[in-house]
Amino acid sequence: MSDVMLNLDAVDKFYGPIDKGVHAVRNLSMTVTRGEIIALLGSSGCGKTSTLRMVAGFEAVSRGRISIGGREIHTLPPVQRNVAMAFEGYSLYPTVTVRDNIAFALKRGNFSAVDVAAKVDEVAEMLEISAILDKYPSSISGGQQQRASLARALIRDADLYLLDEPMGQLEPQLRTLLRGRIKAYIKERGLTAILVTHDQTEANALADRIAVMEDGELQQFASPEDIKKSPANLFTGTFVGEPPMNVFPARTSISETTVSLRLDGDVELSYPVDAFSAELRTRLTEMGEVVLGVRPYAVQRRETGSPATVVANQWLGDQSHIAANFAAGSLVLVEHDRTQLVEDQQIAVHLEPSDLHIFNPKTGMAISHGARLVG
Ligand SMILES: Nc1ncnc2c1ncn2[C@@H]1O[C@H](COP(=O)(O)OP(=O)(O)O)[C@@H](O)[C@H]1O
Ligand SMILES: [Mg+2]
Repeated sequence: MSDVMLNLDAVDKFYGPIDKGVHAVRNLSMTVTRGEIIALLGSSGCGKTSTLRMVAGFEAVSRGRISIGGREIHTLPPVQRNVAMAFEGYSLYPTVTVRDNIAFALKRGNFSAVDVAAKVDEVAEMLEISAILDKYPSSISGGQQQRASLARALIRDADLYLLDEPMGQLEPQLRTLLRGRIKAYIKERGLTAILVTHDQTEANALADRIAVMEDGELQQFASPEDIKKSPANLFTGTFVGEPPMNVFPARTSISETTVSLRLDGDVELSYPVDAFSAELRTRLTEMGEVVLGVRPYAVQRRETGSPATVVANQWLGDQSHIAANFAAGSLVLVEHDRTQLVEDQQIAVHLEPSDLHIFNPKTGMAISHGARLVG
């Protein structure tokens, strides 16, 4: 048995004529391993739902191939794909109870009534909907309908579980609780799942790997740690991470002793030459102009450093977010203590070479992370 559960090979989706209509998914290739939880993360309209619907068979593939468990399925009808999907819009049957909605997928199989009831009770308890099993969809809240729809997908015995924004309607506390339970449910059973979300916290908490999408294109497909530490490009660098990465255009100048990064507004960051690898120094010299990125948590406030002026200081209950004018632009830094800084106060900041992300300004691709050349 191969380790690959799902393979998408150069998949395109056009709504309308090929090469003329809306290009919702662009040349998407990815492989999902058996037992993995994948998050498809991206902003609204980036092609997440279109991707899931093509895998499930509710939308035709415009170009490319999809296989599940080594079997090419992209031309098969949905019922022949053995995929369970929880839809963004719930799509429960209005004329039957929540219990029957959830049980529906099982009844067609070979389970006794007692087995079906036990399975429904188990998944309902996990998702905190036991109390509404005998109600009809129209009489329960959006969040309850959403969990009923999720239960209906999870209860099935499928090769692949596709969950489209399954917790979007829930209160934050319930969402946090269920995140943990859903992950445990999937992992204990060794299921393979793709979760669509625009919420990076959810993606980080649930997924083994995150596929970051933007404008129909896969930007990066890696573990949450790798996406944070080694963003493939400026898009993932600034999209994943809260607050977002600070970015500045910079001009490079490298001497025998010093690596200097000059930012607008007369800010010069100077480092001893051996803080950067020789390959990276060569590359920076060639580039001349780069984009510098540094995460808010990595910005250090010191006695001496580059000058910045505080614009705002917000205490969020467990950390301070400080916004400052810096290098003809602005900078956000995060500190874990309640910081006593006021508007217009002058501070000095230091950026460690090991915390710098450097990008190609023309292509947006990462050149280095932590003063080491990418690739
Ligand atoms: N049935 C459709 N007909 C035409 N355009 C569509 C249709 N469904 C989605 N789109 C367009 O395709 C793009 C991707 O949509 P979608 O896959 O729903 O994104 P997401 O789930 O990431 O929000 C959007 O521009 C959307 O407007
Ligand atoms: Mg969607």
